[in-house]
Amino acid sequence: MFLHGASTVNKQGHLEIGGCDTLDLVQKFGTPLFVYDEELIRQKCRNYIQAFKETGYPFRVAYASKAFCTMKVCKIIEEENMCLDVVSAGELFTALAAGFPAERIHFHSNNKTREEIQMALEANIGCFVVDNFYELTMLADLARKYGKTAHILLRVSPGVECHTHQYMVTGQQDSKFGFDIKSGQAYKAVSEALQLSSVHLLGVHSHIGSQIFETRGFEAAIECLAEFLAQLQDNLSFTAQVLNVGGGFGIRYHAEDIPPTEEAYIKVITDSVHRSFTKRAYPFPEIWIEPGRSIVGEAGTTLYTIGSIKEVEGIRKYVSVDGGMTDNLRPALYQAKYEAVLANRINEKPEEMVSIAGKCCESGDMLIWNIQLPKVNHGDILAVSCTGAYGYAMANNYNRIPRPAVVFVRNGQAELVVKRETYKDLITNEYIPETVNTLKNHSYMAERILGI
Ligand code: LLP
Repeated sequence: MFLHGASTVNKQGHLEIGGCDTLDLVQKFGTPLFVYDEELIRQKCRNYIQAFKETGYPFRVAYASKAFCTMKVCKIIEEENMCLDVVSAGELFTALAAGFPAERIHFHSNNKTREEIQMALEANIGCFVVDNFYELTMLADLARKYGKTAHILLRVSPGVECHTHQYMVTGQQDSKFGFDIKSGQAYKAVSEALQLSSVHLLGVHSHIGSQIFETRGFEAAIECLAEFLAQLQDNLSFTAQVLNVGGGFGIRYHAEDIPPTEEAYIKVITDSVHRSFTKRAYPFPEIWIEPGRSIVGEAGTTLYTIGSIKEVEGIRKYVSVDGGMTDNLRPALYQAKYEAVLANRINEKPEEMVSIAGKCCESGDMLIWNIQLPKVNHGDILAVSCTGAYGYAMANNYNRIPRPAVVFVRNGQAELVVKRETYKDLITNEYIPETVNTLKNHSYMAERILGI
């Protein structure tokens, strides 16, 4: 495994992150445990901002909080002078609870409810990224009732679809997100928005995919958006102030992954805007981006304790950990691949091929198929790297497994950011009081779990 950011191997041969020995962290906080290298998150934020500053273009960098949304991250994003994307009232609530400035919040989602829009209007958020006609009408009505003007971008689909290492220019009409340009829907949305006195149209937004290594996708999307905006200028006399090209910048999950640097992504984007807008004599818009994975992904490591080990002679050795698809759904959902080391014996040579199984009652709950590790023992600590994005964010309670704790480490200090869920948390929203009371009869439950 290659080590990111402030991860290193200490004198004891243990994995150390942010100056903290991971075995000490395990001792103090238990496993499974998400460990975030705070300095690396901050560094990623600064890389984007610095890269934009060097281009001289006006810009905004908004962290897509869906990748990992906790109050601590919102605080860091605020301190790093970035904006924040939310996609639900829950994310909005988290940001506001962390004291994040509302005017720097952008609200996405293909199905914002009336209550969510009201909450965002009441909070005076900076911008709504409007996804469909239903939302446009509802937002305009509610903003009028509140006596406010909602600043909006319209999410459009430029007909470019991008995946890791490749991109396609396709119809892309078959998407639940946004207004399609090709069919004329996006044009209609702009002309409708311009009629609404309670909304102020700032420009357009597009997001072409995630974990994108192939920067030509951004070039193609920007060219398409420039052409669309030029038409709007000619026909509707609308000039966009803002062009939001979304997120999707790739990270290094594996040694062989070599994503472009933040600087390289920003250069491609700003060069493309320059090219596509200059040739149409269109005034340069402010460029907004919204990275999620690339801010937090590499900063996160999950620590697990190894439990049962089962060898299927001549076929496979299953090594089970105390977490799995409940804290990292990505392998089961997307066949995502991860790397790992034994955090307590990191310098030892790999000598056996094993597969890492989660503890859920589901054959598909496999975190890693086929990985070379030193001879594995019960009680070893497995560190899976690059779990910072869409790991804790998609964590769940399948099989009633409590969500792990999250700690942030920096300069040898560990800060508990999310405490481990308890069994009591699992039943906290349930009502069968008589049944709960029966737990009092079980002394183990009463003392250890109900705290009575
Ligand atoms: N902006 C919009 C409108 C998005 O839909 C997304 C991600 C982002 C920004 C941030 O993209 P990022 O920079 O993180 O790639 N659960 C999946 C990823 C879903 C991404 C959804 N949209 C995964 O675990 O890979």
